[in-house]
Amino acid sequence: MTDYVPVLAIDGPSGSGKGTVSRKLARRLGWHLLDSGALYRLVALAAVEGKLSLDDPERLAHIASNMNISFAPASDLEQVFLEGKEVSKDMRTEACGTNASKIALQPTIRNIVVARQRRFAQAPGLVADGRDMGTIVFPDAILKVFLTASPEERASRRYNQLKDKGIDVNLAALSRHVYRRDRRDLERNVAPLRPAQDARVLDSTELDENEVAEYIFEWLLGTGWSPVKVSDG
Ligand code: C5P
Repeated sequence: MTDYVPVLAIDGPSGSGKGTVSRKLARRLGWHLLDSGALYRLVALAAVEGKLSLDDPERLAHIASNMNISFAPASDLEQVFLEGKEVSKDMRTEACGTNASKIALQPTIRNIVVARQRRFAQAPGLVADGRDMGTIVFPDAILKVFLTASPEERASRRYNQLKDKGIDVNLAALSRHVYRRDRRDLERNVAPLRPAQDARVLDSTELDENEVAEYIFEWLLGTGWSPVKVSDG
């Protein structure tokens, strides 16, 4: 089936603020929201809970294809459910992020996850945040944004996000983990983190989330808002 749905792709490294800004914009536009990293995190979480090795592509592929997941709508709290159980907090830990980035290196898993991600593109529109939304998953997105921020600012944002969610963290250790995870995302062979050729790059170091959302909203208005072709994967 082929559908025509406008997609706004927001990519960038961890702590660039893309999650918060995507949620704000989805709410403002009345569009669906895809937190694409959540899918990699959920595969990792299910694997760890099932005591599986992260290097077992067959069993990971089975999880990625069959896991039952659901997200609260963008207007609600950031609630995520795996097999009916709320895992919002468990999946946000940096340990789960690190496992997710290891799983995300595997092409078989990426193919399955990407196909699931594409199914989120439903009317009236989708705001998709991640690493490869503009380059791979939604190459026809009406607007592609690549958000950056200085490493110090990103580490401090991640720290505050985790603290706000009640997750215990140490800033120095967190900075090290985030640095390693970003390197893995940047240097991998499949879908490395980089701006799409037609992406607009925005450095958010000196901007708050409302200012970032405003920039993106104005750019979106500037596109003329025409629907794009999105194929089911
Ligand atoms: O965005 P988040 O921090 O939740 O992503 C966790 C990990 O999942 C990332 O570090 C990255 O390795 C992987 N990921 C990805 N492609 C995406 C989103 C996330 O490879 N579109």
